[in-house]
Formats: sequence, C-alpha cells, structure tokens
Amino acid sequence: MDLNGLPYALEPMQRRDIPTVSRIEQEVFSLPWSTSAFRYELEHNPSSYYVVLRYLPWMDQDSGESLLGSVRRALRRSTHDPSLVGYGGCWIMVDEAHISTLAVRSIWRGRGLGELLMVALIEEAYRRDATQVTLEVRVSNTIAQSLYEKYGFQRLGRRRAYYSDNREDAYIMTTASISSPAYRREFDALREALRRRLLSEKVTPPERPLERTP
Ligand SMILES: CC(C)(COP(=O)(O)OP(=O)(O)OC[C@H]1O[C@@H](n2cnc3c(N)ncnc32)[C@H](O)[C@@H]1OP(=O)(O)O)[C@@H](O)C(=O)NCCC(=O)NCCS
Repeated sequence: MDLNGLPYALEPMQRRDIPTVSRIEQEVFSLPWSTSAFRYELEHNPSSYYVVLRYLPWMDQDSGESLLGSVRRALRRSTHDPSLVGYGGCWIMVDEAHISTLAVRSIWRGRGLGELLMVALIEEAYRRDATQVTLEVRVSNTIAQSLYEKYGFQRLGRRRAYYSDNREDAYIMTTASISSPAYRREFDALREALRRRLLSEKVTPPERPLERTP
C-alpha cells in the first residue's frame, strides 16, 4: 500500500526487531512465540514473510552515519524499539498464504493499523501468486474475526482444543479466491478507503512508553 504522506513505514522484519516483537508477543498473546521461533522464521523458512509497522516520528533521532550513532541505534533496537507498533507474518506455500501472526500494540489499536498490516500480508499473497488466504483464530477473538470478515474471510471449520493454554477451539477462516476479479475489486476498494481514512485522521500518538531494558 502506498504510505506516501503517512507517518508510518512498513519494513521487512529483521533480526534486530525480534526483541521488541517478542516483547509485544508477551503483552498480547497467551501463547507467545519464542525469540528462537522468530529467528527460525526469518533465517530458515523460505516460505515466510514478516513485516513490521513503524511510527516514523518515534524512530531514532540519531541521524548521520557516525559510528556512535549506529551503535546507539543498534543498542536501542536490541532492547526495545517504541517506533515498532505492530507486525504480521504469513507462510506462502504453493497457492495458499497462511497468516501466522498479526498484532498491534494495545496503545496503538483502533486506528486502522491492524488493517494496514492485513493489507500488507494480502499484497504479499498477490505478489507470490497465492490464490487463497487462510488463518486460525480463537473462537473468543471476535475483534480479530471482525477484521478478517471485513477482508472476506469466512469460517470454514473449527479445530477443537487447538490452543494448549486453555484448550480453546480455533476457527479456520479463509478467503474466496483472491485472484477472482470480484475479490480484487473489493480488496482495492477497502485498501483505498483505508488509505483515505489514514490520510484524513490526524495522528495523535499515544503516550510514548518508557524505554525500559528487559
Ligand atoms: C486484531 C488487531 C490486530 C486489530 O488491530 P487494530 O489496529 O486495533 O484494528 P484496526 O483499527 O485496523 O481495525 C480494523 C477492523 O478490526 C475490527 N475491529 C478493530 N477493533 C475492534 C473492536 N474494538 N471491536 C470490534 N471490531 C474491531 C473492525 O472490523 C475494524 O474495522 P472498522 O475500522 O471498519 O470497524 C488487534 O486488536 C490486536 O493486536 N489484537 C491482539 C492480537 C490478536 O488477536 N491478533 C490476531 C490473532 S489471530
């Protein structure tokens, strides 16, 4: 999606993002992925695609290419990077994209950013010629389900006791063919509406979290 004029950037997730991503995982999910699971995804899984969303004004102010500047940036990113406000990932296997994770930091929710990450994942599915997008979601997670329904996902089935923490069921949700002209039209319209929404809303950032070390 064209982010021109918006204070956000989408970037491929990198190894240095993992500590922050992992911290958000622990805030958000009751079964958080480990840092080694993310490392595996980034370094050894050729079918994976992971993206992070950043709020540009909170990116490091240290400019220039001085050695000290880069060391400071690297140190800060290796602990906690407040500019990283959300992330998403998927596996693309043959003609199916499977969304493996999607999260927005709680203080940044309700601004269209989860949707922005969803759009980025579906765009990657198009780039890699997938024809369908699938995912699993907790049956109690009605907020995420509402986002998925907005993007044409329907409940295809139910996996019993899928989540090991509380044995909650998962819905399997899937889109119709994303290569159909009808889906493409709907996706383009949703993406355009989101872009207009993001451009029209003045971004008042939440209170910046304390930059604690782990
Ligand atoms: C799901 C999640 C990513 C949504 O992120 P977000 O940035 O708050 O969502 P957005 O502002 O982009 O909203 C997109 C859509 O989600 C749904 N949604 C978001 N907040 C909602 C709420 N409080 N109640 C109901 N629906 C909601 C709506 O369909 C919304 O579309 P709309 O703006 O046209 O109403 C976020 O709530 C999150 O990180 N949750 C915890 C992690 C998680 O559950 N991930 C999914 C695992 S399967």
